Formats: sequence, structure tokens, C-alpha cells
Amino acid sequence: MASKIVFMCSLLLLISYSSQNDNPKTSNSTRVLSAAHTELTNYGLPVGLLPATTILGYAVNQTSGDFSVHLAGPCKITLPPDNYVATYSKKITGKIIKGRIAELDGISVRALFKWWSITGIRASDDNIVFEVGMVTAKYPSKNFDESPACEGRHSAS
Ligand SMILES: *[C@@H]1O[C@H](CO)[C@@H](O)[C@H](O)[C@H]1NC(C)=O
Ligand SMILES: *[C@@H]1O[C@H](CO)[C@@H](O)[C@H](O)[C@H]1NC(C)=O
Repeated sequence: MASKIVFMCSLLLLISYSSQNDNPKTSNSTRVLSAAHTELTNYGLPVGLLPATTILGYAVNQTSGDFSVHLAGPCKITLPPDNYVATYSKKITGKIIKGRIAELDGISVRALFKWWSITGIRASDDNIVFEVGMVTAKYPSKNFDESPACEGRHSAS
């Protein structure tokens, strides 16, 4: 089915992205990370799931796990090899519990001229599992030890 092929392509993008970051830079980032980044680690998730950009604010309802993160502007990250783009909206919402984000809204990856929402992210052993609808793909979590920088005019400011 065509839709299945498209999903596989978008997952391949994520594979390209993580292999690019295999380059073992120091995991002790010199960037100053926001409280929202730290909050991710409190839930057993790596800081690299949020780009290194200005976080205007975030809120987590400890009871329900509902959260929202407000970025200073939309953030774009280009995924290799070429022209594959992932974006973070100014507002990202979802439900966070230990090791898992569900009902995610605000992070998309572009493949085959279409945007695909990443609907969930979870930690599983030493891997991070991304959910795009019903399809999942996992990558070593060490690829997300550092926050990626935003590109373009909405870069970190
Ligand atoms: C990161 O590096 C700084 C400066 O070298 C050091 O003070 C800090 O303890 C390091 N943090 C970790 C987690 O290694
Ligand atoms: C947090 O979630 C609980 C359960 O859904 C709800 O009852 C409560 O009103 C929420 N608190 C805030 C501050 O939204």
C-alpha cells in the first residue's frame, strides 16, 4: 500500500538523522539547557528530544501528565541526506509519564512532499522509540544526548 511505503520512508529519515548523530561528540554539552530540557530527564527521556532554542515556558500537570512547551518560534532541523526537514511548532503538547510521551502534537517530519506527525516517543532500554501513527522505529538513545540547534531565521536567540 502506498501509505505504508510513505511511512517507511519517513522512518528511514529518522534513521538517517540518528546515524548522522552517531558521531560521538561529548555528551557534556556546553549549551545551557532550559528547565524544560531538565524536566525531560526527570521523566527518563533525553534532552535531545527538544531543540536547543529559547523555551518561553512549559507546564506539566503532574496528575494527568498533560504538558505544553512554548518555543520562542517554530524550529526547523534539516535531516540528512538532503532536504528532509523536521519542525517543532511554537507550541508542543502531549501527555508525559515516566519514559513516555503520548498524544504528541507539534513535531512533524517531511517526507515525499507531505508532513507526518510524530505522535509519540518512548524510552525502551537504551533506545528511543518514535511513533508515527501505528508505525514505530527505534534508535539508540545516545543519539539524543544533545539538543540539536534550530536552523534559519528562527534559530536559537
Ligand atoms: C560538564 O563539564 C563541566 C565543565 O567542564 C563540568 O563542570 C561538569 O561537571 C560536567 N558535567 C558532567 C555531567 O559531566
Ligand atoms: C491536572 O489534571 C487533573 C486530572 O486530569 C485535573 O483534575 C486537574 O484539574 C489538572 N490541574 C490543572 C492545574 O490543570
